Amino acid sequence: MYCVKKIKEDLFWVGGTDRRLALFENAYPIPRGISYNAYVLTDEKTVLFDTVDRAVTDQFFENVEAVLGGRPLDYVVVNHMEPDHCATLGEIVRRYPEAQVVCNAKTIPIIKQFYNFDIDSRAIVVKEKETLSTGKHTLTFMMAPMVHWPEVMVTYDMTDKILFSADAFGTFGAMNGNLFADEVNFERDWLDDARRYYTNIVGKYGPSVQTLLKKASALEISMVCPLHGPVWRENIEWYVDKYKTWSSYQPEEKAVMIVYGSIYGNTENAANILACKLADRGVKNIAVYDVSGTHPSTMISEAFRCSNLVFASATYNGGIFSSMEHLLTDMKAHNLQNRTVALLENGSWGVLAGKLMKEIILGMKNMNILEQTVTVKSSLKESQMAELDALADAIAESMK
Ligand code: FEO
Repeated sequence: MYCVKKIKEDLFWVGGTDRRLALFENAYPIPRGISYNAYVLTDEKTVLFDTVDRAVTDQFFENVEAVLGGRPLDYVVVNHMEPDHCATLGEIVRRYPEAQVVCNAKTIPIIKQFYNFDIDSRAIVVKEKETLSTGKHTLTFMMAPMVHWPEVMVTYDMTDKILFSADAFGTFGAMNGNLFADEVNFERDWLDDARRYYTNIVGKYGPSVQTLLKKASALEISMVCPLHGPVWRENIEWYVDKYKTWSSYQPEEKAVMIVYGSIYGNTENAANILACKLADRGVKNIAVYDVSGTHPSTMISEAFRCSNLVFASATYNGGIFSSMEHLLTDMKAHNLQNRTVALLENGSWGVLAGKLMKEIILGMKNMNILEQTVTVKSSLKESQMAELDALADAIAESMK
């Protein structure tokens, strides 16, 4: 049975929710599930904006059929050709053979790579700022390459001032009946997942996101309809500000994240003592994570939030503790920049973790590594408290 949400008189959410999938992209845990959004406009012509992931195929087709009510589907706008939004495109063109596919030139080869249907005969290929009239509504298409794939575009409904923003402004988390962001406590219940979604999925492409934000700033926007998560019709600027911060790699808060990689608990002990010393110096909301027991996507997200990062790692196989090494290379891959970093290393012999962590971090842009690296030999000694105090002082000072 269909589950459609009305957005406007002639605009409907026809997507689906998935609370079964464990790993989005087979990589990111989504304990709160995920929504795949698609929208139907019932103007003189009917328009479907994107499709959905294969997992919610049945929900989606029942929704589309219910909204169309027997009318033909005239257009399918493909804003993003990634399978979480295009897995059902082949089935759409099979069920609605008259539908024309509206996309840009970069989308065509990707459709051909994923599908065997004849796209050339049914494609309407649009360029930057080209428009399509559907009757009452005029749609404008704007390219948004690398937000998050090269073919991404966004669609602006000039009539109702609605931006169909593709992956931008999306979030992990299945919607629970409430479609609009103003119907939930987004900052309390959704922001962490929105940040984790943005930083892990699109975080690498900050300059591309900045370009899109610049284009969007020239538009009057009354509503943002992303491909994942709630629709925005209030307080849009608050969310745009978050995107400005994240995409420019500026920290969201003056805050410290301490990540430790500890084999027998001695590095962990040093990390905990450092956290207490930071708290003694007035640092609030310190976040401490065990790199072995925390998914990297959480720490990537926290690294985008926090101004100061501390990496405390055991030496392992003559290198960095493996899960810490993975995290650091992941941070580099996500283009993290502009952070102040402190290092703590441990080893029973041949202590190398600090030096090797420093090498990875120096490969990132504009990272300020504090001089006071603390070296633990097997376990922390009373005589080293002064070193930890000096490190805590340096971190606290850098946050002023
Ligand atoms: Fe939600 Fe880039 O796909």
